Amino acid sequence: MKEMLREEFRAVFGREPAVIARAPGRIEFIGNHTDYNGGTVLGASIDRDVWVAVAARDDGQWRFATAAKDGVVTVPAVSLPVRQSGEGSWVNYPLGVIAAFPAFGLKAPAGFDFLAVSDLPVGAGLSSSAALELASALAFLELSDQAAPRETVVKLCRQAENNFVGVPCGILDQGVSGFGQKDHLVFIDCRGPVFATVPLPAAACFWIFNTHTKHALVDGFYAARHRECMEAAALLGVTVLAEVPPAALEAAQAKLPPVVFRRAKHVVEEIARVDATAAALRAGDLAAVGRLLTASHRSSQHLFENSTPELDFLVDQLAAVPSVHGARLTGGGFGGAVMALTTPEFGDSQAAAVVAAYAVRFGNRPEVLRTQTGDGAALVD
Ligand code: GLA
Repeated sequence: MKEMLREEFRAVFGREPAVIARAPGRIEFIGNHTDYNGGTVLGASIDRDVWVAVAARDDGQWRFATAAKDGVVTVPAVSLPVRQSGEGSWVNYPLGVIAAFPAFGLKAPAGFDFLAVSDLPVGAGLSSSAALELASALAFLELSDQAAPRETVVKLCRQAENNFVGVPCGILDQGVSGFGQKDHLVFIDCRGPVFATVPLPAAACFWIFNTHTKHALVDGFYAARHRECMEAAALLGVTVLAEVPPAALEAAQAKLPPVVFRRAKHVVEEIARVDATAAALRAGDLAAVGRLLTASHRSSQHLFENSTPELDFLVDQLAAVPSVHGARLTGGGFGGAVMALTTPEFGDSQAAAVVAAYAVRFGNRPEVLRTQTGDGAALVD
């Protein structure tokens, strides 16, 4: 990827890049919509990345290009960048990072040329947007001779997403891309936030089945779930749902409209499942981990209602395969991908059987990715 990035940079801007950074996509392992509710979550950074190359310019312009789209987007280098719309709206991720710098005591970089390339599928629930933010942030800091602790980088990237892009996401995506480690999961207690890593047993294998479906209103649905969770917290008299143990929620059911109760039940039980998963991982019990993953999906399906028929079908198929420990939708939901945790016996022929059944039912084929864990965001020499 690095050579490809350099070559493309030369082709677009006619010179060498000065700084290169990469940041991985992530699998949401378990902890669905727990992050902005102050809960816990486990994620894995994967071995697929967004790569960013930059070089300074002295004419007060930021020029953005990506291998995924034709053309260069030019924006004046000012301390308060303006949100872009239409074809160029992808630059809101790096621009949002710059817009967040002052709040963390950092200065916006002066003019630059910027190129992003990626081997991370977009729209698969693997968080290519957070990876773009993290890689951009590391590149901008280095280019402008500034340094920031990793936790600050993660927080400012989340702020870019919340305040500039306009998605009320939690810290999961940025936290995992920033703190990921090969052969480990990232455990986040989102109330701190506090970041830790948990070793992953060597026999654990990940498969991603990307349906390439994305609900047209996915951002609106995400925001609606966020609102319902905040409503539940307010009606229960707590700041975040993580303060409510599952039994206390059951006792308070009468205080909540039925839909809001279902959303809250998903969140508080999911937090309990995250903690049970961390314990099962420590005990090396992947079968128990798998059962918790599939239970998480069922809760998304029936309580949080952020699944789709395509995702449910994949989970049903996968859960019936003996070499699959468990499967669940990964990420915000309303389309995207299912991840399966498998034994090493699960291979191409098992994956092909799932794809074939899906093709009969839906008339198209999900994309299959066999992924591994990979290291978190970093500058590249
Ligand atoms: C998206 C958001 C995350 C998290 C998940 C759901 O990936 O960006 O912050 O809320 O959805 O768990």
